[in-house]
Amino acid sequence: MDILGINCFSHDTAACLLRDGSIVALAEEERFNRERHTKRFPDQAIEFCLREGGIGINDVDVVGFAHRPGLDLARGAIDALRRRAPKRLAIQAAVDANLARKELDFRARWGYRGRISHVGHHDAHAGSAFFPSPFKEAAVLTLDRGGDFLSTTLQHGRGSRLRRLAQVRNPDSLGEVYSALTWYLGFQPNADEGKTMGLAPYGRDKLVSAFADLLSTTPNGLFRVNLDWFAYHKEGGWLSRRFLDLYGPPREPESEIRALHEDLAFAVQDLLEQVAVHVARDLRRRTGSANLCLAGGVALNSVMNTRLLREAGFEHIFIQPAASDAGNSLGAALWIWHHQLGRPRTGNGAMAHAFWGPEYGERECATALEGHGLAVRRVADPADKAARLLAESRVVGWFQGRAEIGPRALGARSILADPRRSETKDIVNARVKRREGFRPFAPSVLDEHGAAYFEAYYPNPFMLLVQPVRAEQRDSIPAVTHVDGTARLQTVTAAGNPDYHRLIDRFAARTGVPVVLNTSFNLRGEPIVHTPAEAVTDFLRSGMDALVLGPFLVERT
Ligand SMILES: [Fe+2]
Repeated sequence: MDILGINCFSHDTAACLLRDGSIVALAEEERFNRERHTKRFPDQAIEFCLREGGIGINDVDVVGFAHRPGLDLARGAIDALRRRAPKRLAIQAAVDANLARKELDFRARWGYRGRISHVGHHDAHAGSAFFPSPFKEAAVLTLDRGGDFLSTTLQHGRGSRLRRLAQVRNPDSLGEVYSALTWYLGFQPNADEGKTMGLAPYGRDKLVSAFADLLSTTPNGLFRVNLDWFAYHKEGGWLSRRFLDLYGPPREPESEIRALHEDLAFAVQDLLEQVAVHVARDLRRRTGSANLCLAGGVALNSVMNTRLLREAGFEHIFIQPAASDAGNSLGAALWIWHHQLGRPRTGNGAMAHAFWGPEYGERECATALEGHGLAVRRVADPADKAARLLAESRVVGWFQGRAEIGPRALGARSILADPRRSETKDIVNARVKRREGFRPFAPSVLDEHGAAYFEAYYPNPFMLLVQPVRAEQRDSIPAVTHVDGTARLQTVTAAGNPDYHRLIDRFAARTGVPVVLNTSFNLRGEPIVHTPAEAVTDFLRSGMDALVLGPFLVERT
C-alpha cells in the first residue's frame, strides 16, 4: 500500500511516500524550488517521491494531508474571545479556506481521483516523532508555534496507537514567544531561531527573573503566556508596546550585537528550557514512560532537547530530524498507516538515518562539472581523498548519496573542515559561509569514539542534542567547541552513513581525531544544495578549497 503524505499547511512544505509502512522517499520543496522555508505547494517533492517509488499519482492508495480543515474554528472562536486574540481566528479561517482550495487545485492539477485523508497538525507531528522511533512505547511531546490552533500536545504512544493526554491552545505558545524574541534580536522569525540559541551562551542571567513574568507554568503541567508582553496574536507585530518601552527598539538586522541582546537571548532560552522541562516532567509523570519522542519546530532547539533528556526523568530520547512542519508529510502518512488503518509497527519504519532525498549518479555529477575549466579527477576512494585534504586543513565540499531531510546537513550535502584549529571557524566563515561570527560550528564524531570526546555521551545522529566537550579534549577540537564548552554534535555510524563514516575514520587515522567540522552545503540564506549543479555553482562562488562530488575531486589551484 502506497501512502503519499503532504505538508502544505504553511511553511516548509514537503512530501513523503510510505510503502507498506516503510519510507521510500521524503523531501522538502525548498530544496527543489530554492526558496528557503517555502510555502509553495510541494509539487516537485511529490514528483520526486512518485519517481522514487516508480508509480504514478493514481497508483497512490491514500493521499494524506497533514491538516484537518474546519477542525478548530469553534475552538478558535472561544479562545479568540477569551484571550483577546481575534487575529488568530481570522488567520485560522483563512488558513482553512486556503487549504481546502489547495486540495482542490491538487486534484485538478495532478488528475488524482483517489482517496484523501486528513491528519491533524499535531497528530502528524506526534506520528513523525513516535512511529519512526525505536520505541514500542513512549511519551510524545509536540512543541510548536501553532497548528490547528494548538501549540503543544502531550501524547502517549503504544504500538501503533497514539493517545492525546493534554494540549495547549494558541496563543499560549513556546514557539511564538521564542520567535518573537528572535524577531526582536534582528533575526528572521520562523527561520533563524537557531541564531538566538547560539547567541544565548554569550549572555548573562540578568534578565531571567524579569522574564519569568512573560511565561508561567501552570499546576496542571502546562504553561500560560502573559500576552501583555506580546503582540503576535494581534495585528502587525511580535512584541507589545510594554515590552518595547522597557527594552527599547528591536535590533536592526546586521547591526552590532550588544550585551542587552546577548542577555535577552540568554533569558528567552532559559525560559524556554524551564517551561519545557516542567511540561516534560509532567508528561513523564502522566505516562510513566522512560522514552521521550519530540517533534514540532521548537524541537529543533537542541539545547532545550538536552535538558529534557537530562532533567525530565527520561532515559531515552528520539527527535524527528525534520521536526518542523516538513516532517508532517511523514507523520501524516505514518498516522494513516498505523493509527487509522491499525497496521502494526514492524520496525521497518524506524528511522536510523535521514537520507531519504534524491540521489544523483556519476553521469549527472560529470555533466555538472563540465564547462567550467575545472581540473576534474575521478578518484577511487573519495572518502580517503577528502580526509587527506581535511587533515591538511583545507575546506572541502562533500556531496554524496541521497540528500538528507531536515534543516541540518548530516554528511550527504556538507561542507567539512578541520576541527583541530581554532582559526578554522573564521576561515569557513570568511571564505564560504559568511555568517555571524558568534554562531558555533558543529562536529560530526564517530559513534564509537563519542564518549571519549563528550561528557554524558548520548548517540545523536540528527544533530539535535548539545553535549559538553570533555575538558581534556577542548584544545583538540576548538573549532567546534562553543563559548560555553558544549557542541551540537552529530554521531556517525557505519550503518547510518558508510561513506561519511569512512571519511571521518580516514581523518582519524591521519590525525588521531575522529571528529570533523560539519556545516551545511549552502551559501548564506539559501537552502542546502540538492543537485550536483548547485554544488558546483556554490563551489565556484565560494572559497572552498576542494569539492568531492560523487566519485570526482576538484581542487582549487
Ligand atoms: Fe508545526
